[in-house]
Amino acid sequence: MQEKWWHNAVVYQVYPKSFMDSNGDGIGDLPGITSKLDYLAKLGITAIWLSPVYDSPMDDNGYDIADYQAIAAIFGTMEDMDQLIAEAKKRDIRIIMDLVVNHTSDEHAWFVEACENPDSPERDYYIWRDEPNDLDSIFSGSAWEYDEKSGQYYLHFFSKKQPDLNWENEKLRQKIYEMMNFWIDKGIGGFRMDVIDMIGKIPDEKVVNNGPMLHPYLKEMNQATFGDKELLTVGETWGATPEIAKLYSNPERHELSMVFQFEHSLLDNEPGKEKWDLKPLDVSELKAVLSKWQTELGNEGWNSLFWNNHDLPRIVSRWGNDKEYRVRSAKAFAILLHMMKGTPYIYQGEELGLTNTPVSSIEELDDIESINMYHDRIERGFSVESIMESLNAKGRDNARRPIPWTAEANGGFTTGTPWLALNPNYKEINVEAELQNPDSVFHTYRKLIQLRKDHPIVVWGDYELLETNSNVFAYYRTLGEERWLTVVNLSDSEEEISVDARFNKVLVANTEDEITDLHAYKLSPWQAFVVELSGN
Ligand code: NOJ
Repeated sequence: MQEKWWHNAVVYQVYPKSFMDSNGDGIGDLPGITSKLDYLAKLGITAIWLSPVYDSPMDDNGYDIADYQAIAAIFGTMEDMDQLIAEAKKRDIRIIMDLVVNHTSDEHAWFVEACENPDSPERDYYIWRDEPNDLDSIFSGSAWEYDEKSGQYYLHFFSKKQPDLNWENEKLRQKIYEMMNFWIDKGIGGFRMDVIDMIGKIPDEKVVNNGPMLHPYLKEMNQATFGDKELLTVGETWGATPEIAKLYSNPERHELSMVFQFEHSLLDNEPGKEKWDLKPLDVSELKAVLSKWQTELGNEGWNSLFWNNHDLPRIVSRWGNDKEYRVRSAKAFAILLHMMKGTPYIYQGEELGLTNTPVSSIEELDDIESINMYHDRIERGFSVESIMESLNAKGRDNARRPIPWTAEANGGFTTGTPWLALNPNYKEINVEAELQNPDSVFHTYRKLIQLRKDHPIVVWGDYELLETNSNVFAYYRTLGEERWLTVVNLSDSEEEISVDARFNKVLVANTEDEITDLHAYKLSPWQAFVVELSGN
């Protein structure tokens, strides 16, 4: 496989509303992000995936875009954006923009024109029908909304304020490519493509993901925009299997660099049901799924590695132990993921071991998906208790609380009133405290990133799962003569491993436990380490 910069990259996702507020309005902004670039450089990341900062009424926190070529006033100006790109570049950090082109905001000029003037070309940029079918919105309720004025229904797979675009319209596709080139010309490092597997939909046949035109559209996009540039492109593809991932990311097919697969992320809900229908994680399933992804892409695709993003709960609360083993289990998940093959993504605050923020009432939440689900489930007869249990486990606001920078009021995130309250534990868990403590979660992330930079085995080594007790996740990476072993105990109990190998040195570990003979080694709860094996 031809080596590209993004094979070696470590990406950090910034959710702008919650990262750092520079002007005291309680909302994170672009100058706030720029002011924290030195912190990110210290962590060692080499790219930032910036969640949407475009002009938007913020019905879905910016995933509802009203103007792709303007910056939302709450985040700053285009000059602020240019400055962020330039300042990041000085620190060898590239900016990956969020490309949300499955839908726009209903306040986008195209949709406004489409509604006001049904004879306009813009009408066909969206999907209109005289009668709705029974497709559901991902944010609850029907996917169709009636427009009184024109007497037709428009399609929206997300909120009513996010009408789906009609990719069958060639003129629309060209407009999207022009807009992408506007950003490419600004010197960005790539695009993260929101729900990109939905653009080939055929609503009348209820084909939503992976429609027949999806890959032809992506090939066309590649040629019209980033094909001859060195950009990182990553598609959000919820239903991808390794075979599907190869269609996107096989370099010979000239589509994307990689995709986000979510198979591991679906392991803790009842199969076939909604994400709110909770089921405990079975570690052996996690081992099977991640190992499949590690081995099956071969040279025909590239993995992205992640536990968290702005849609998912915090990993340490989700599958770790965010109480007595918070630090250890946060580090265990970091070690487990960062020694795998693929490009790692860190979601803001993950490097601090931030936890979920349980609430007792829906009033304390802001997220449209959570609020819609609450009302939908109340109507369907669910108890408030069960709904709150699901929201506290999986609701998106768990990941969206502002970043605690210090132990001061509101974690030093803002001098005003934060748009969403911080997790009350910010006095103990914050950036300043993490930086000061050499044993913090932050320093483990920093070390893991440095190991990846220093050792090609982390980027290129072959992966092999080691058969172990079900709660222990252990795997080898091998490159030429070099062989590393990662061992992670994903449980609150002691476990044992037996490996017929000797090692030279410990590369990273999350406990002070002495690591001796691997033939019958007792792992303490959540213990994790990486060793370099000796040649025989
Ligand atoms: C996926 C994004 O990650 C999520 O936050 C958003 O709500 C939907 N796509 C709609 O854009």
